[in-house]
Amino acid sequence: MGLAINDFASLALDLTSGVSAQDRFDRLLTTVRTLLDCDASALLVFRGDQFTPLAINGLATEVLGRRFVVAEHPRLEAIARAGDVVRFPADSDLPDPYDGLIPSHDDTLKVHACVGLPLVANQRLIGALTIDDFNPRQFDRFSDADLRTVSALAAASLNNALLMEKLEQLSGQLGVSLPGADGPPHQSGEIIGQSPAMLALKREIEVVAKTDLTALVLGQTGTGKELVAEAIHGASLRAGKPLIYLNCAALPESVAESELFGHVKGAFTGAISHRQGKFELADGGTLFLDEVGELSLGLQAKLLRVLQYGDLQRVGSDKAIKVDVRIIAATNRDLRQEVLDKRFRADLYHRLSVFPLQVPPLEQRGDDLLLLAGFFLERWRSKLGLSSLRLDEASRRLLMGAAWPGNVRELEHCLHRATVLARAESPTAEVVIHPRHLDRGPTTDPQAGVPAPVSLPGADPGLGFRQATEQFQQRLIRQTLEANGGNWAASARDLGLDTGNLHRLAKRLGMK
Ligand SMILES: Nc1ncnc2c1ncn2[C@@H]1O[C@H](COP(=O)(O)OP(=O)(O)OP(=O)(O)O)[C@@H](O)[C@H]1O
Ligand SMILES: [Mg+2]
Repeated sequence: MGLAINDFASLALDLTSGVSAQDRFDRLLTTVRTLLDCDASALLVFRGDQFTPLAINGLATEVLGRRFVVAEHPRLEAIARAGDVVRFPADSDLPDPYDGLIPSHDDTLKVHACVGLPLVANQRLIGALTIDDFNPRQFDRFSDADLRTVSALAAASLNNALLMEKLEQLSGQLGVSLPGADGPPHQSGEIIGQSPAMLALKREIEVVAKTDLTALVLGQTGTGKELVAEAIHGASLRAGKPLIYLNCAALPESVAESELFGHVKGAFTGAISHRQGKFELADGGTLFLDEVGELSLGLQAKLLRVLQYGDLQRVGSDKAIKVDVRIIAATNRDLRQEVLDKRFRADLYHRLSVFPLQVPPLEQRGDDLLLLAGFFLERWRSKLGLSSLRLDEASRRLLMGAAWPGNVRELEHCLHRATVLARAESPTAEVVIHPRHLDRGPTTDPQAGVPAPVSLPGADPGLGFRQATEQFQQRLIRQTLEANGGNWAASARDLGLDTGNLHRLAKRLGMK
């Protein structure tokens, strides 16, 4: 039995409801899951040379942070090339981008049903819909025509969202800003994150980018301040002009002035020719003053002068040079406190902090940590030529519960080390990171990532590993359900599972 006209109608109607694009994408996948009864599905947008997941259903959260370079994922490449429904043979040995990333199932995706639907608008590939199920025959009952219709409806939805985004950009309003949907292909500087704190920051970036205001990027070490500065420049009208970087912390007093403002030939011993300073190099573009809190008071005075009058003098010259430079400054210091402590000039502080942006610490970003993990792991997977590189469930919990004083940079380094260790231990093409590879101490919050306070029942003696595990899962689910008065959604939350996953798991365990 395939799909009926009613099913398509419900799919089409769903696409028109929902307040945000994200909302519509999530609905789309929920409906697809109901119609096709699949274990996992994903909606991806195609840009440049990569697929970026926009919404997922039944897949691990970290998938949302992965950026799949088409040429490295044969299944996605096949979908991109086919221009039509692709049914992969159940025993296909093409590596699957979601291998090990379907939480309801602990095994790898060896034999399973996998269908890819290319999403096409105006004869151009704009994305893909992937559907997976552990029953190898799951999609046999749907005709190609059925699947093509699903694909056409999904393509219409995605195309609408992309057009809306373009319109919003044109009119200068705030867009939803689909991840990876703008900017050049191979965005090395993409800011990963969908938590409310990061979405708010992205909106602020868009707002300030459209102006010439001086922006001050604040935040703890390793939160991504440099990325934010790049994003502001990249989204501004100056994007085609240079973004000049100056690290104020690495600026010895003796050369600082000539670094900033340049010098003329003969200005001092060794000045054998004219030299442009950073301000001149940035003319028409943006000057990024990183670690601005480290500037000496003397240099602060000189910088202030340029900001006030918009002109400067090269060292050794009394001619004023006009420059048109937009300033973005960043610091991990509390500049206001520095002002109170008389280490930073109040007048310069006010000049710089016209538009302050606060980059939130990692601990305020919730699941973004998993997205970032997926983002970094996919990058190294590709660099190392592995077919799969992922975290096991215990590692995910460990990372989510750990403290990250060094924020994203610390997470990146921690995962990098773990990748190297895990790979050394099992030199195969499929590398799984376990907690022992993550040199994380005990968690700051002993409750974090740990399932609800349910006692762990011992399994009946004599059961094999698999049966014991299943028995344990059954008991844990039953107890959690009892503790939650039979409420599945609340139980799923306590167990750290997606509600749909919990339902399917319960079904598989014969509990429904
Ligand atoms: N949201 C993000 N998405 C992807 N990568 C990120 C994100 N935030 C930070 N990173 C990465 O983390 C690392 C640290 O970021 P960055 O250098 O911008 O931090 P910072 O705030 O400037 O730190 P510091 O104050 O120590 O200079 C970089 O490799 C950066 O690419
Ligand atoms: Mg920095």
